[in-house]
Amino acid sequence: MVTGVDETAVADHYTVDGLGMLILDALKASGKLNTLSPIDLAPVDEFHMGGRIATQHIIGLMNLPRNANVLDVGCGLGGVARYLAAECGCRATGIDLTAEYVRVGTMLTERTGLADKVDLRVGSALYLPWPEATFDAAVTFHVAMNIADRPRLYAEIARVLRPGSPFAIYDVMQGPKEGLLFPLPWAETEETSFLVTAGEMRSLLDNAGFEIVHEEDRREIALKHHRDRLAAQSAAGGPPPLGLHLLQGPTASLKSRNMVNMLEANQITLGAIIARRRA
Ligand SMILES: C[S@@+](CC[C@H](N)C(=O)[O-])C[C@H]1O[C@@H](n2cnc3c(N)ncnc32)[C@H](O)[C@@H]1O
Repeated sequence: MVTGVDETAVADHYTVDGLGMLILDALKASGKLNTLSPIDLAPVDEFHMGGRIATQHIIGLMNLPRNANVLDVGCGLGGVARYLAAECGCRATGIDLTAEYVRVGTMLTERTGLADKVDLRVGSALYLPWPEATFDAAVTFHVAMNIADRPRLYAEIARVLRPGSPFAIYDVMQGPKEGLLFPLPWAETEETSFLVTAGEMRSLLDNAGFEIVHEEDRREIALKHHRDRLAAQSAAGGPPPLGLHLLQGPTASLKSRNMVNMLEANQITLGAIIARRRA
């Protein structure tokens, strides 16, 4: 169930009509369509700074056992969920507000042969439709910046996790300098953007029953990744057919320029946290 004005505005922001065909056409143009594997989708299905490299690093910090039952909150197209299934041998369940992402993500899961290990469904992170202690681990990548009610978000995730379970967070946070530029990849205006500082994040997690076991600032790493990507594109004479521009509409380059400018100016930062639900 999608509730509240903010959630509808968020889902509208991310919805791209005909996204499935756009992605399939780009895969065809890249010669990948007939032999599709999860890694081929990484340019488009890892909608967070640093893409697949960030996913590998952060999921690696969790030390997940094979067959762990992992929840991906705000799964988008399901790139992280498919990574968990294909590379870590986990069962992954994703939940996301944006019905179009879940539809296209489910099609991509089927095409990569992972339908028995990955389940994506439409819903709100604030009303998780599972009983308490359902999951062995949870992740959320670049989602919470759309969520105003952070206490409820982390309380819901704590509720569905078994005591002692790891929870990985990779999020954009408010930096030490004032001011935001819009549009951004996650919001057209400040009406659907709700950043917190790293200090506020620590209190939120503590209050929800999590203990932080690892924390890192990935701002410099993300900026380097961005510069390397721009250099590769310029050497290749333009962006490849498959990329995050397919998800961001006509203002795609302005959105990523604004984000990078704010990272450089310390108006935003990027945090990765591994927390553990207290027993
Ligand atoms: C920038 S995308 C990141 C998607 C994915 N985590 C990834 O890294 O590729 C943000 C996602 O968060 C989802 N989202 C935002 N607010 C949400 C909420 N309250 N409940 C569920 N999903 C939400 C959006 O629909 C969108 O798919």
